[in-house]
Amino acid sequence: MDTAASNQSTAEADGKDTTLIYRQSRWTRLTHWLWAFSLFFMLLSGLQIFNARPQLYIGKQSGFGFNNTILQIGAENTDNGPRGFTEILGHRFDTTGVLGWSGPPGQETPRAFPAWATIPSYYDLGTARVVHFFFAWVLSATLLVWLISSLVNGHIRRDLAPRLEDLRKLPKDIVDHAKLKFHHTREYNTLQKMAYGGVLFVLLPLMILTGLAMSPSMDSVLPWLNEILGGRQTARTIHFTVMVLLVLFFVIHILMILAAGPINELRSIITGWYRTDPPAKHDQPTERSA
Ligand code: HEM
Repeated sequence: MDTAASNQSTAEADGKDTTLIYRQSRWTRLTHWLWAFSLFFMLLSGLQIFNARPQLYIGKQSGFGFNNTILQIGAENTDNGPRGFTEILGHRFDTTGVLGWSGPPGQETPRAFPAWATIPSYYDLGTARVVHFFFAWVLSATLLVWLISSLVNGHIRRDLAPRLEDLRKLPKDIVDHAKLKFHHTREYNTLQKMAYGGVLFVLLPLMILTGLAMSPSMDSVLPWLNEILGGRQTARTIHFTVMVLLVLFFVIHILMILAAGPINELRSIITGWYRTDPPAKHDQPTERSA
């Protein structure tokens, strides 16, 4: 079977006293690129869907008697001409050019997210929904494949499950990251375990559940889902918040990869092979108990 652990014996030393190890199984790599690809299309088509109703609410009530809006992106006429604004929990920010009012100079239009951030770039809710739902199924199937393969090949138990010693290492790990000091070992460090675990076991499942809760056809199949998530509007707000957290994760993920050495990191997530530091540099052995 193609597991990282089963390939410890293939480690080879080179002249620089570093070691090339097989770190990422083909299932980890395949699913990683499938969800990265799916999330790209889901994000851009999701922003187009949001543009059709650029407000978020909390709670089940709606109507003229209530103001349960927590976020709103729009455009307004001012003495200086039309301006775009974003209002979060009653605090209004001028976001002209990006959110609310955007477009090439002289051809600006009122739209929540700008043309370059949506699929399609022009207003087309129908196409956006087709793209969004197609990749939602690809993403859900990918996560299921990742879960089954990672349980079978031991990736979850070996690489992602938190251990007591991870808690002990956490303060040092935070300091090392702040100093951009990275250790290239076989194991994920504590912050990586927390970030990847948070994405795979909290954010992505919550994204799928809140997506299902918004679907009218799911009301009859899983009526309790909408209920426990606080109603359709609250589910939509959670869905949007999870999107923001995933974008934040993505930005930090890319920055960390660039800081840790992009060639080595990319090689590991494309081919599986990863170069570890010379043994003396680690405070822990690089061998992983299979
Ligand atoms: C939406 C986009 C992405 C998400 C949600 C994501 C998420 C993740 C997660 C959860 C893992 C851990 C996987 C596991 O152990 O099973 C991971 C690993 C990794 N990702 Fe991403 N990723 C994304 C995009 C990217 C991109 C664009 C790159 C490259 C430019 C990248 C490079 C890597 C690398 C190198 C690792 C392995 C890190 C290591 O072994 O230390 N990821 N990613």
